[in-house]
Amino acid sequence: MKTTDDIIKMVDITKIYDSLDVKTVALSDIDLVVKRGDFIAITGRSGSGKSTLMHIIGLLDNPTSGKYVLNGTDVSKLAEDELAFQRNKEIGFVFQQFNLLPRSTAVENVILPAIYAGVGSKERTEKAVELLTELGLEDHLNKKPNQMSGGQQQRVTIARALMNDPELILADEPTGNLDIKSGDDVMKTLKALNKEGKTIVLITHEHDIAAQAKKIWHLEDGRLINKP
Ligand SMILES: Nc1ncnc2c1ncn2[C@@H]1O[C@H](COP(=O)(O)OP(=O)(O)O)[C@@H](O)[C@H]1O
Ligand SMILES: [Mg+2]
Repeated sequence: MKTTDDIIKMVDITKIYDSLDVKTVALSDIDLVVKRGDFIAITGRSGSGKSTLMHIIGLLDNPTSGKYVLNGTDVSKLAEDELAFQRNKEIGFVFQQFNLLPRSTAVENVILPAIYAGVGSKERTEKAVELLTELGLEDHLNKKPNQMSGGQQQRVTIARALMNDPELILADEPTGNLDIKSGDDVMKTLKALNKEGKTIVLITHEHDIAAQAKKIWHLEDGRLINKP
């Protein structure tokens, strides 16, 4: 049991992409604290740095400088395998593009994080079926992604995100590829998970989606503004 109330604590995080002769400052001096149980939205125009910030929060990319403490662990100093371990344990990801394995069934997709975590075959399959059933997909357990609607596929990714029972759910434009009804369902699910105690960081460029979070922060040219 961790004693810290801060799931995310970033101090002076900067990200500079250095490709050939061009330097792009994607994030400048980001200070971000997210408390346990919070539900925050990060908005901003295309190119403002949303995905870069999401990748750093999610341990998918390293900052150029600054300090990042995730659930009590200073991840700035971790090696790649330790980062992968933390990522799989602490964070559930929900992406705009679903990122499901096309030739695998819903159940097979959902159990993946548990395979990496070393959970036994019977236990992880039962958990996957339970999560998919809670998300209303009990009739689609053995379907492949192309046999499901976009909304159903996004619910499979939410089940996958919950597989290792992470404290933090990171959602990058989760409604971006969905019709309005399916997008509403995803937002209802995220709000319900937040009520159950999950911390949610939602990245979106849609203001009516962001407005459903408890707090909204804006990125503008790599700077976080309108902090509460
Ligand atoms: N891999 C990369 N190499 C170089 N520049 C990048 C890379 N990824 C993003 N950028 C640049 O960093 C800035 C922020 O991009 P991004 O985080 O994708 O913004 P958003 O998700 O808000 O659209 C943009 O100027 C973008 O062109
Ligand atoms: Mg983006």
